[in-house]
Amino acid sequence: MNFKEELERKTGETEEIVKRYLPEPEGFQRRVLEAMDYAVSAGGKRLRPLLMRESAALFGDAGEGLPCFMAALEFIHTYSLIHDDLPALDNDDYRRGRKTTHVVYGEDIAVIAGDGLLNYAYETAIRAFEKAVTVEDYQRTECAMKILGRKAGVYGMVGGQCADLLAEKPETEVTEEMLLYIHRNKTAALIQAAMMIGAVLAGAGEKAVELMEKCAENIGIAFQIQDDILDVTSSLEVLGKPTGSDEKNHKLTYVTMHGLEESKRQVAALSGEAVGILKGFPHRNVFLETLVEQLIYREK
Ligand code: IPE
Ligand code: IPE
Ligand code: MG
Ligand code: MG
Ligand code: MG
Repeated sequence: MNFKEELERKTGETEEIVKRYLPEPEGFQRRVLEAMDYAVSAGGKRLRPLLMRESAALFGDAGEGLPCFMAALEFIHTYSLIHDDLPALDNDDYRRGRKTTHVVYGEDIAVIAGDGLLNYAYETAIRAFEKAVTVEDYQRTECAMKILGRKAGVYGMVGGQCADLLAEKPETEVTEEMLLYIHRNKTAALIQAAMMIGAVLAGAGEKAVELMEKCAENIGIAFQIQDDILDVTSSLEVLGKPTGSDEKNHKLTYVTMHGLEESKRQVAALSGEAVGILKGFPHRNVFLETLVEQLIYREK
């Protein structure tokens, strides 16, 4: 099987896991559940749960709790997209090849669909405790819960979104340090959660988890630089979301600061470093290494 076929198969399996944990629309809350379903079911690359599973495979058996965390992280990521697209934030009308949640369901329902997904993510992750058998399983699950909460919150993705929004204001002087903070948090934090949780659940030691944190930081920063490149060079048809969103919002990005060529070089350099870290572990996961390399050239 070549890499592309393997990626398709693994993405399909990830898709099934995410769908399995998605709640059924029913009752008086049906509308919010439908909006949650609409946003999640639209698809997307499922990169974060995929990275979680592949990171786990690098260290061993992650146990039955892993799918709960895979679904939970994709729910958090999807909530962040629903809120990111709202008129109060980036004000974008397309996501994952469809009209955004607020365009279809209204801003009111879109806001609470985001809230719903965020809360349901933790309900889903906590179910991993039911799957724990040994004391060690409990300890690993507890550690994974802590990482999820931290990286998704104000010291992670939410913090990054805050700085990202402030950086759009004309009175803010955006420094290189601030731009790096934004990328590290709004984007890399959830990728760190993916790779660290996978490692922790599979029994990786403290030093190895730290290395995974660094590796995922590089992947995440590269991922956001590439996102900013595609915002300039791609199209709605290919991306499934509008291009020119950053310019519309007067957002300073790597591309505006350093230009396209230097940005592309940065993506390749950061990804190369990340692959170097992966190659240093006693066991290899060639699929994961190739996935990180391929992200350099991703077109969506
Ligand atoms: C989009 O993430 C938001 C960013 C952090 C750039 P993805 O590019 O992973 O979006 P989906 O999940 O594939 O839709
Ligand atoms: C958003 O970055 C990252 C999130 C936390 C959602 P962008 O605003 O650049 O993401 P896109 O381009 O809308 O996916
Ligand atoms: Mg944004
Ligand atoms: Mg956006
Ligand atoms: Mg973008």
